[in-house]
This record gives sequence, C-alpha cells and structure tokens, in this order.
Amino acid sequence: MPDTLPHDLNAGANASPAGGPEARNATDAAKGEPRRLFRADTIAPPETPLPFVRGLLTMVDNPIKVWPKSAYRDRYHKLHWMGRTAHYIRSPEHVKAVLLDHADAFEKSEFQTRLLKPATGEGLLTSEGEHWRFQRRAASPAFRYDALKALVPTFARAASEAVGRMRAEGGGAPIDVMNEMNRTTLDVIVETIMSSGDPGFRHEHVSSAVTDYVQTLGHPDLLDILGAPPWIPRLKGSKGARAAARLKAAAVDSIARRRASDETRSDLLSLLMAARDPETGRGLSETELRDNIVTFIGAGHETTALALTYTLYLIANDPVVQDRLHAEAVEVCGDAPVDADMVERLTFHEQVVKEAMRLYPPVALMDRRAVRDVEDGDLKIEAGDLVLIMIYVMHRHQRIWDQPEMFDPERFSPERSAGRHRFAYIPFGGGQRICIGMKFAYMEAAAILATLVRDLRFSPNPAHRVRPNIRITLRPAGGMPLFVSPR
Ligand code: HEM
Repeated sequence: MPDTLPHDLNAGANASPAGGPEARNATDAAKGEPRRLFRADTIAPPETPLPFVRGLLTMVDNPIKVWPKSAYRDRYHKLHWMGRTAHYIRSPEHVKAVLLDHADAFEKSEFQTRLLKPATGEGLLTSEGEHWRFQRRAASPAFRYDALKALVPTFARAASEAVGRMRAEGGGAPIDVMNEMNRTTLDVIVETIMSSGDPGFRHEHVSSAVTDYVQTLGHPDLLDILGAPPWIPRLKGSKGARAAARLKAAAVDSIARRRASDETRSDLLSLLMAARDPETGRGLSETELRDNIVTFIGAGHETTALALTYTLYLIANDPVVQDRLHAEAVEVCGDAPVDADMVERLTFHEQVVKEAMRLYPPVALMDRRAVRDVEDGDLKIEAGDLVLIMIYVMHRHQRIWDQPEMFDPERFSPERSAGRHRFAYIPFGGGQRICIGMKFAYMEAAAILATLVRDLRFSPNPAHRVRPNIRITLRPAGGMPLFVSPR
C-alpha cells in the first residue's frame, strides 16, 4: 500500500502557514483559552493492514475495522481481488476527479446496485444515463427551497411529538435516541412524501419493512464482496426481498389512493405526480413513481435520523455546545413552532449537524465502476475497475483536519470553512449525482434539533461505547442510549 503524498492535500485551503491541516480556531487561540474538545468515540483502526482472508471476513462485519491507521495518513491505495482492481480513494482531488471531472466515465457499481435495486428499482438513486437524467430533471423542482419551505411545519410537528414521547418515557433510564430519531424522520418522510393525513397509510408496516430491508439485503454478503453473480442465492435474500416487496406495495397503494381522491396536496407525491421534464414535457410513469417513492423513503429517512442521532450523542458529551444550541433555539424561535424563516437563522445548528456528519457520515462509503479508462495525475483507472470513495476516512484524514477525532463545530464557521477544498467534506456526495435531498435534510435536521434542545437536555451514557458500523448507512451498533431530561 503506497504512502505517497507528494503534495499537501489542503493546498490553497485554510492551511496553516506550515502547510499542514486546517488552521485552529484563531479566536480561541488568541484568547489563550483553548476549550477542551470532546473526543468522539469510534473503532480504533488496526495498526497494519489485516491479512487477506481475515480482512475479507472482517469487511463483511464492518469495513471500518479493516482500514488501517495508514489510510488516515496517506491518500490512496489499490487492491486486486478476484481478477479486479479496487481503488480506495480519500483525497479531495481524487474524489473530484471521479465525481466531477470524469463523472461520465463512472457508473454506480453493480455491488451497490445489487444491494439497493430490489427496493429502489429504476428510481433516481439506482438508474443511469438518460433515464436518470430525465428523472432528476423531473424531480428537482420538488426539492427546491420554495417547495421545501412548506414542509417545515411537518418537521416541527414530528419533532414535538418526539419531545412528548421522550418526556413521557423519562423515568431515569436511558432512551435509545436512534429509535426516536428513526421514528421522527420516518414520520416526516411519510407525511411529506405520500400520506399527508392519508388514513389508509400503515405507518408501522412501512417502518418495519425499511428496517428489515436495511438489516437483510442491505447487509452485504461475503458473496457480494467477492463479486459472485446475482443468481447465486444469498443467505438473507428472501427476508430482504419480502421487505422490498412490502415497501413497493405500500407505495403503489399510496399512488392509487391519491389518484382516486380529487384532493390536491402540496406533498412530494403530488409534486412528483405533476412533475414534467422541462425539456420534453414527459411525466413519471407509474413504475417510476413507485420506485422513487421507495427511494425517497429509503434514502431520506434513515440518513437524516443518523445525522441527528450522532448529533445528540456529541452534544450530550459537550454541554457548552448543547447550551449554545439551546440559546440559539430560544433566541430564534422563542416558544413558537419552528418555521422556514427560523430555520435559515439557525446557523449554529447547521454547523453542529455538519460537524456530526463529518465525524459520522451517514453514507460512509460510496462506490463506482469505471466504464472507460481514466488517467488523472497519479490516478490510473481502467475500464471495469472499482472505485471506493472512503468518505468516513477522508472526513477524519490527518492531512485535511486539525485534531480530526475531536468534535468542534467551529470548523464549519464561515471563517474556517473559507477556502476548504470543496470535495474534502462530502456527506451528500458530489458532482451531478449529489444528493437531491441535501437542502431537505439540512432544513429537517435544524428544525428537529432546535425543537429537541429547546425542551430537553441530553446527557452522556458512560455505560455505552459508540461503535459505528457500515451497513448501507453508518449505524451505531447497539443503538444510542442517552439520558434525556426535561429542561
Ligand atoms: C443527512 C441526510 C442525507 C445524507 C447524508 C444523504 C446522502 C446521500 C449521498 C452520499 C448520496 C450520493 C450517493 C452516490 O452518489 O452514490 C445521496 C443521493 C441521493 N439522496 Fe440523499 N442523503 C440524505 C438525505 C436525503 C433525503 C432527505 C432525500 C429525499 C427526501 C434523499 C434522496 C436522495 C436521492 C434520491 C439520491 C440519488 C440522487 C441521484 O443519483 O440523482 N437523501 N444521498
């Protein structure tokens, strides 16, 4: 594994005069009173690369356990397995080369497609080429700021219900905030995408289908990692396939109920049903509608729940940050339900969520397959090669971040963000396939977080260690039990 870094990754960014990682917080340093930062828990990387077979088996359990310490210091390595080459990239320049400069040379890998397609079909996340382009153009208006503003009351309502549940539960025992956040963001996605008070919608049913799906099909099999063809049956295949079928059926029901009712609503389903490709005027077919609904439920709910879950863990361990959030929430929102204008003013909330997603990116690993040869600097990729974009590693890379393992929302202040390589921080991916729900997620996370911290205090749980585990998303093993009390 080469450790070759001829140039500074942060060149031109807010590097220190010596050209090292990002500059420290100048204000703190000038005051001469650096604040004690919280060290975010994780899995210690192995000192040296694991032997091949052990590495492979560990990869199935959790890729984070495989990546050695050197991965956080150097910029690139490649491995050959089963006659294929896999490029492991974690430098902003390489990421930019793959996601932006040569985007047309890459597709989603068949590995990812095999994991997701049974549920998301030919929806936005898993389609390619002209079919993807058409859907992206058609769906984009539903994700513009003006359309999203109308959804903020739903975010605030779901968060208030979570406050009510946690208050009611508060008997001194820890509460699994991951469950709570999953429930809250599922309420949001279901409400904003398809139900809007639809009495026929079976909430628990969809929720358990998503969970089953992520835990079964979403959990890569050794056969997937080895690249075995799809017709070889996977151990957990049937339960996952049943969960995918349940999700699709729920989406089809919702579309049918909506068509049968004459109501016009302003949720995403209505927007998608009305969507027309600005270039051709064509709308989404029934199958495309169904696949995109399942895609939005799958892609939009657990990711945001995880961003909030890790945020709550981090602020529980950093009372200074938690109090500052509380003060901002009270100042901006008073006692009123959070609305769209308030969300725009919750700037410290956004910084905190960004820093939580740096340390624990809900999508920690992205992959692509090259469809043609690409050469860019020291990156030489051949058609058919696999590229793994190690978001988790890049977000903790020693050459990019100062004290990478520490929780410091000030990294995302305007001053300290200025000049940072725009591909150094990519929780939502980048280039043309950047997450369509990014603004949705930021608005939702800020509205929910403000509602929670205004009424509740989160305290650490010393008995629980945080062990992030890459499934499709980065889940904390054993959930996130924290102490929660009313303010
Ligand atoms: C914190 C929350 C979220 C995170 C971290 C996240 C992350 C990502 C990432 C990394 C990608 C790119 C995947 C790739 O290029 O391989 C992506 C794509 C996507 N996300 Fe999100 N996402 C979040 C929230 C949402 C929400 C709320 C929605 C919808 C309501 C959504 C819908 C999608 C869709 C449809 C795509 C595919 C876009 C395309 O290929 O054109 N995401 N997301």
